[in-house]
Amino acid sequence: MSDDAIFVTRARFSNFKSLKACDVPIGALAILVGPNGSGKSNFLDAFRFTGDALTTTLDHALRDRGGINEVRRRSGGHPNNFALRFDFRLADGSTGHYAYKVGAMKDSGFHVTDEECLVVPNATNTGVSFRVKGGKVSTTLEERLPAVVEDRLFLVSASNIATFRPVFDAFTRMGFYNLSPAAIRQPQPPDPGTLLRRDGSNLPSVLGHLEKQNPSVLARVVDYLRLVSPGVEGVSKTAAGSMETIEFHQRVSGQQRPWRFAATNMSDGTLRGLGILVAILQANGRPPSLVGIEEPEVALHPAAVGILIDALAEASRHTQLLVTSHSPDLLESETLDADSILAVLSDQGVTTIGPLDIVGREALRDRLFTAGEMLRMNQLAPSQEALTASKQEQLRLFEL
Ligand SMILES: Nc1ncnc2c1ncn2[C@@H]1O[C@H](COP(=O)(O)OP(=O)(O)OP(=O)(O)O)[C@@H](O)[C@H]1O
Ligand SMILES: [Mg+2]
Repeated sequence: MSDDAIFVTRARFSNFKSLKACDVPIGALAILVGPNGSGKSNFLDAFRFTGDALTTTLDHALRDRGGINEVRRRSGGHPNNFALRFDFRLADGSTGHYAYKVGAMKDSGFHVTDEECLVVPNATNTGVSFRVKGGKVSTTLEERLPAVVEDRLFLVSASNIATFRPVFDAFTRMGFYNLSPAAIRQPQPPDPGTLLRRDGSNLPSVLGHLEKQNPSVLARVVDYLRLVSPGVEGVSKTAAGSMETIEFHQRVSGQQRPWRFAATNMSDGTLRGLGILVAILQANGRPPSLVGIEEPEVALHPAAVGILIDALAEASRHTQLLVTSHSPDLLESETLDADSILAVLSDQGVTTIGPLDIVGREALRDRLFTAGEMLRMNQLAPSQEALTASKQEQLRLFEL
């Protein structure tokens, strides 16, 4: 698996929902497995939260989740802040990290108490950084920086500076999907169609763009879709008055040419399958920096789930993928790397998340079991290091 696709190389979260302290290395493809309520979606949400807070506002991202008191971890000694740190690699090869801490105030108010970003250009040792603390910003740059606003992330203002722009762009080009067949069936007004929306509703526009600008990607989507949904031979955007919708080309017995079926008449599994394939393979202009998908196996036949893992492996060569799953069929593939699995468990409401423990790795290495079999037996557990990390009281997330 290529490293070029990796955007976030390591994630460290403190007191975000059920994540008390986690420190997780992440590769090009990360499949999170673990019991219901163990914290898989919370882990993905820490990424989505950051993207939301940068594209809208911190206030909006918090309100969307019920306010700061729902986002910071609930526990006996209810911590009054949460902090997230992402170590990253950008498309141009530069590396660095972005970290911020949000503190709760009385009356559900909040403020950013710490924030820092470091960018080390490729092939140099000296980075450029900013650090916000106590309402003041300091920087290694010569130029003057904009003023700090307490309830906003400074990276938004810093995106006007050339060095920090790619960091902002990468964090705001993550896509998180919760595909809805009902939304995909609805005819849609035309849309720029460069990035698939969370519910998949602008799928017709995205397909239209792929057809024009990236037909080879559309061909891959159709290759996989034919395997997922036998009989389907193609898919295209079509006009419905001033709106647009999707048309499927399907083989029908006794007919030489495929018939065209409107999205309204297609099965939930076919629509979801198409949405997932487009979400992971999309490359209109630049591909997303990272794609998160919850339980892609939903509504798919087990054989189709097996095909999905091949599509995920292919897509992870150009886009980093974070996937949650309960499907042994998804983990059945013999080619699945042990490093692609992140095991999640919860102990008294505190999440542990990390790479597989030694027992799991050895069982996979020696081909005693497949990861799918181990998931069925509930034998996929996080490593000792991950367990130790989750017990820490303080994670060191800021260093500038
Ligand atoms: N602010 C918070 N503090 C502590 N725990 C929280 C907080 N918010 C949510 N949780 C806990 O997180 C858990 C849900 O985690 P999450 O949704 O990530 O589970 P999951 O692993 O995705 O489960 P599933 O497989 O069912 O989707 C719940 O048990 C909930 O109590
Ligand atoms: Mg979940």
